[in-house]
Amino acid sequence: MDYKKKISEAIGSPLVTADDIMTAAEGHGDYALPCFKYARQLRKSPQAIAEDFAAGLGGCDFIERTEVAGGYLNFYLERKAFVRGVMAEDPGRPQLRSSGAGKTACIDYSSINIAKPFHIGHLMSTAIGGSLYRIYKYLGWNVVGINHLGDWGTQFGKLLAAYEEWGDKTKKLTLGDMLDLYVRFTEESERDPALAERGRTEFLRIERGDPDAVRTYEMFKATTLEEVNKVYARLGIEFDSYNGEAFYNDKMQPIIDELEAKGLTEVSDGALVVRLDDYGMPPCLIRRSDGASLYATRDLAAAQYRADTYKFDKCLYVVATQQNLHFRQLFKVLELMGREWAKNLVHVQFGMVSYEGKPLSTRKGHVVFLADVIENTVQKAREIIEEKNPDLPNKDAVAESVGVGAVMFFALGTQRIKDVDFDYDRVLSFDGETAPYLQYTHARCMSVLAKAENRAEGEPDPALLTDDDAYAVVRLLSVFGDVVLDAAEKYEPSVIARYLIDLARSYNRFYIAGRIITDDDALTRARLALTSAVARTIKTGLRLLLTEAPDRM
Ligand code: ARG
Repeated sequence: MDYKKKISEAIGSPLVTADDIMTAAEGHGDYALPCFKYARQLRKSPQAIAEDFAAGLGGCDFIERTEVAGGYLNFYLERKAFVRGVMAEDPGRPQLRSSGAGKTACIDYSSINIAKPFHIGHLMSTAIGGSLYRIYKYLGWNVVGINHLGDWGTQFGKLLAAYEEWGDKTKKLTLGDMLDLYVRFTEESERDPALAERGRTEFLRIERGDPDAVRTYEMFKATTLEEVNKVYARLGIEFDSYNGEAFYNDKMQPIIDELEAKGLTEVSDGALVVRLDDYGMPPCLIRRSDGASLYATRDLAAAQYRADTYKFDKCLYVVATQQNLHFRQLFKVLELMGREWAKNLVHVQFGMVSYEGKPLSTRKGHVVFLADVIENTVQKAREIIEEKNPDLPNKDAVAESVGVGAVMFFALGTQRIKDVDFDYDRVLSFDGETAPYLQYTHARCMSVLAKAENRAEGEPDPALLTDDDAYAVVRLLSVFGDVVLDAAEKYEPSVIARYLIDLARSYNRFYIAGRIITDDDALTRARLALTSAVARTIKTGLRLLLTEAPDRM
């Protein structure tokens, strides 16, 4: 049921397409057509154009009335027909779900660094990328989730030296041990130049493929992944590839050769660079004077590899705003190399996370482990449930859904470019703009449905859902598809989050305004049908935000 298309066809002007029709703002009907952009061509004021369009709509049966206001033409739909259309919609939404068919999106997200803590700063990339992964899949895209591991660099030589020097080889190493070793190495090598040198030679051993060195390096990698995989499992995060920086060791030379052959490089202080002055950027470093490759070199090779392997229509990099320059340089260099697909690379950036008012630092100071944050939130959720609903079955499972959901919604509920502060009370509030509020509304729907079990059967009469409170809910239900498409187009899961809050508020208003279950069978049936559609939509929407919706809580 595509009203935008229906309205544009009814207007019958070649200038007006379905895309021009927008969902109306509160109090301005159901849909609206801004007429400003036709003014020049039609040589009339937007107001006059709106009036002309309105006059031509006389015999249109699905529009109850129109209204011209400030250059807009507002449409009030015939409510009964509208409700019937929305309620009859296939809950599987086949059209929406095949909109991305045949297209491939690569999503580079989480992309953790080996032997470094998985701290709350990684939460944003993990949650935003994980959510976009589900959103694009939902829309029928072929999606490739990539964890571009930070698994190469001289720090591994240092870690190896430290491990050989002080590591306890009798027991299994943990991520915490690796951190301690690394910190100790950094401190002691400042005083001891021989140790610093040792770090360099150990890295050479890894680079040259010395079996012992490589075995230990692989052990660092496996240990890190084992720990972060526990977090991923808890959050329902998946990857299709863990090809990280090391994977590109043997794939950079052709790129460097091509850059040189195309005359794009210059030698500066012994290093190989691509100058980007013409584009207002500092040079992109390709090879250091000691011959070592760089983060950017690996990303050039990675982009090429992804283009060749996955033939993507889009490649998203979900990485903090701090790396903005890196990605602008990367995309520009690929463009200069003549890669036509460079225009399909997108840096999906996000702001900074602080924790209970304090900034985060990966250095010794203020590291907040993501696993702890999740665990604490789940514990607190458990306490709240214990207090609110002590007889609830499955308390642990519900607390897990609520706690994880609260953390996910924290990361996904706000426009990603904004800085956010994590605060337990706020993310767990049951009546704020939070996952628990949405989960609670969903559970409310499910409990109403469970109570009324046998009274929901049969076609609901759409005429019984045209009062303002019910109709507001129906209108929101009708735009779910648009919302998901918009979220995908803007790489912005918060669009779905905002929508779900609006839907839940609107449903709760309807719920409070009148009883759902009454003596009147027809009315009960209609209200139950609406309740069930709301429950389904909240559950689907929350899934796209990496959050489960338990039936009871
Ligand atoms: N490992 C990097 C970091 O934590 C992020 C990598 C992002 N992806 C990429 N292809 N550069 O800073």
